Amino acid sequence: MLFTSFDNVGLLKVLNFLESHESEYLSGQDLSDVLKISRVAVWKHIEKIRSLGYKIDSKQKRGYKFVNRTERLLPWEITKKNKAKFIGRRIYYFDEIDSTQDFALQLSTNNKENGTIIIAEKQKHGKGRLDRKWYSPDGGIWLSIIIHPKFEISDTTIIPLLVSLALCESIKKKYGIKTNVKWPNDITINGKKVAGMLIDTTIQGNKIENLVLGVGINFAINTTQIQKRLQNTPNFYGVTSLFPVKNRASKMELLLQFLVQLEKGINDLTEGKKLQIIKKWSDNTDIFGKSISINTGNGKISGIVKKIDSEGALVIKTRNKTEKIFVGDVVLR
Ligand code: BTN
Repeated sequence: MLFTSFDNVGLLKVLNFLESHESEYLSGQDLSDVLKISRVAVWKHIEKIRSLGYKIDSKQKRGYKFVNRTERLLPWEITKKNKAKFIGRRIYYFDEIDSTQDFALQLSTNNKENGTIIIAEKQKHGKGRLDRKWYSPDGGIWLSIIIHPKFEISDTTIIPLLVSLALCESIKKKYGIKTNVKWPNDITINGKKVAGMLIDTTIQGNKIENLVLGVGINFAINTTQIQKRLQNTPNFYGVTSLFPVKNRASKMELLLQFLVQLEKGINDLTEGKKLQIIKKWSDNTDIFGKSISINTGNGKISGIVKKIDSEGALVIKTRNKTEKIFVGDVVLR
């Protein structure tokens, strides 16, 4: 099931009318007369609205009454409250999809999709970094965002830092929960992964032309199965969820905050405030001074983490020299 921020006119007419008359029962005939749609269409829209998780009461001879909004991250609910300027101008919502990242990649070259969000309740074949599988059951926030940035290629290493920082700050702001950033792009709580991101780019000349940012947040999911399935995979260090499964915390609040923080981070990078991003990221990590191993693709390097340098590289002191690492998977020793 796909919904977007730019269609569903009939459904939204009914929904908005019911919501703005929250305290009243409205008959099917009245809705049909006022909204100028058939009674059958009114009934069909109300059934659909209910199937999306809104609570609509109905009483014989009186009609329908709006009771509760849905918990789902539906496009028009995001649009209503989104304070970001370009992120989220268009939104595609799926109750289930193979991967929001794949869908976003197909759309990403179209000019009008700059800032577009693709979001899903669950993914059947969610993708993680380095061709790993990303488990995406109900209860998480799984989204991809298309960005046509004005960044230099050399900014590529800063992007994961600014995104993870935006998420870390949003979680702190909304729920007071302290998370840590783990280089290059994980968010952890008590040393276990609670969110991750995937960045796909296409390059033109020395500019990044298209960027698709995939973000997976274990918001309120059951991690026991995931833990069991993943515990023997290389570099796995534990998985956790922000909240337990039945928690009533609002995903929408976190999403809206994240969109604003992310847009701010992107503007900062566009304005050349790289060092500021690195400094803030460094204030939110506990990795400095730790003994780690890192798989770089060119073999394994072990040493003590010194800092993130001005290019976003991880600086490690090995037994006999100092190494700068741009890509890899960090494992604490
Ligand atoms: C990682 O840490 O390995 C990156 C995980 C990224 C997962 C997100 S969920 C939304 C988007 N769609 C995908 O298929 N993957 C990303």
